Amino acid sequence: MSKSVAKIKNIKLINIRQILKYKHMKKTKILVTGGTGYIGSHTVVELQNKGFEVVIVDNLSNSHIEVLDGITEITGIRPTFEQFDLCDSEKTKNFFTKHNDIDAIIHFAAFKAVGESVEKPLMYYRNNLDSLINILENIQLSGIKGLVFSSSCTVYGQPDELPVTEIAPIQKAMSPYGNTKQIAEEIITDFINVNPNSKAIALRYFNPIGAHKSAKIGELPIGVPNNLVPFITQTAIGLREQLSVFGNDYNTVDGTCIRDYINVVDLAKAHVVAVERIIENKTKFNFEVFNLGTGNGSSVFEIINSFEKATNQKLNYKVVARRAGDIEKVFADTRFANEELGWKAEISLDETLLSAWNWEKYYRAKKSLLNKE
Ligand code: UFG
Repeated sequence: MSKSVAKIKNIKLINIRQILKYKHMKKTKILVTGGTGYIGSHTVVELQNKGFEVVIVDNLSNSHIEVLDGITEITGIRPTFEQFDLCDSEKTKNFFTKHNDIDAIIHFAAFKAVGESVEKPLMYYRNNLDSLINILENIQLSGIKGLVFSSSCTVYGQPDELPVTEIAPIQKAMSPYGNTKQIAEEIITDFINVNPNSKAIALRYFNPIGAHKSAKIGELPIGVPNNLVPFITQTAIGLREQLSVFGNDYNTVDGTCIRDYINVVDLAKAHVVAVERIIENKTKFNFEVFNLGTGNGSSVFEIINSFEKATNQKLNYKVVARRAGDIEKVFADTRFANEELGWKAEISLDETLLSAWNWEKYYRAKKSLLNKE
């Protein structure tokens, strides 16, 4: 081959590479299921901020369409939105036929209330597992690069050793909700075994709290909140009379339970890193698992103190009996996520609690304004 022919071939190759890179940078399209939910909406914001195109699928069973306005106000981009139930296999298939250029999926859509799952186990198994299976079937059919799955530290139960690493044994689930997370991870493992061209990453969240610093999106529990921080902010704003602290006789610093509370924006950013890892073929294994926490355990009293300090609000609370099923203490060993995923939680607890409070105030003010109109 003459030198000039080789040169032309080389230039062509470089151009093709550049076009592919350009195409990749401009058009990487991520399906976010449950994208109008709490963690989903914050993740959509971070994805759009990094230039990804996002399509949300949500059936709005536990979220509000107005969340799209908040996302749009923050990012200047309104994500594509499709409303349907991913348990409907026909609709799911049609969706993937219509959006045949999806590169990867972040799958949040699921029921998540521990107590409700005990009351309605079949509803939880049906919803959380059917939707996952439908998604995996379409990954197989359409050559999508992979899936980031929303898992939970609940799979560890009460670990023997703290902080808890990713290789800590999985304990028998304490609730059907927890069991759906364990079974889902097993389903993904089996699927990836026979579909090695697709990759999967399960992110095991510790306790996500807080809101976007703009206060335009945040946690919106329907009815009485089950979780600590929304209950605190609703009490401080006068919606609830008093916070009940569930037990002060645990074997911890001050007798209350210990959790690893992580800022939801930090958590959202981990999803962006995980999805990039899949798209850029950086995964070391076909199915990987990471803990997402801060590595610090905080007691319920510490959260109350930090909230009072950060927001200048006095909180009305009383200690009551333990809540059934509560784990005494759990917090993450974050080394694997820090070193291998290249992600670290950065936002402080005080700042996080302040963001939760700002969101509560913003949301209530907006709601009362709408009611007056
Ligand atoms: N708590 C109170 N009063 C309340 C609510 C909670 O004292 O009104 C205490 C709980 O007893 C616990 C701590 O605050 O000690 C945190 O409770 P949350 O309900 O906020 O969170 P959990 O750790 O119980 O559950 C969360 C998620 C689950 C997930 C689990 C994994 O809500 O989806 O973490 O450990 F499975």
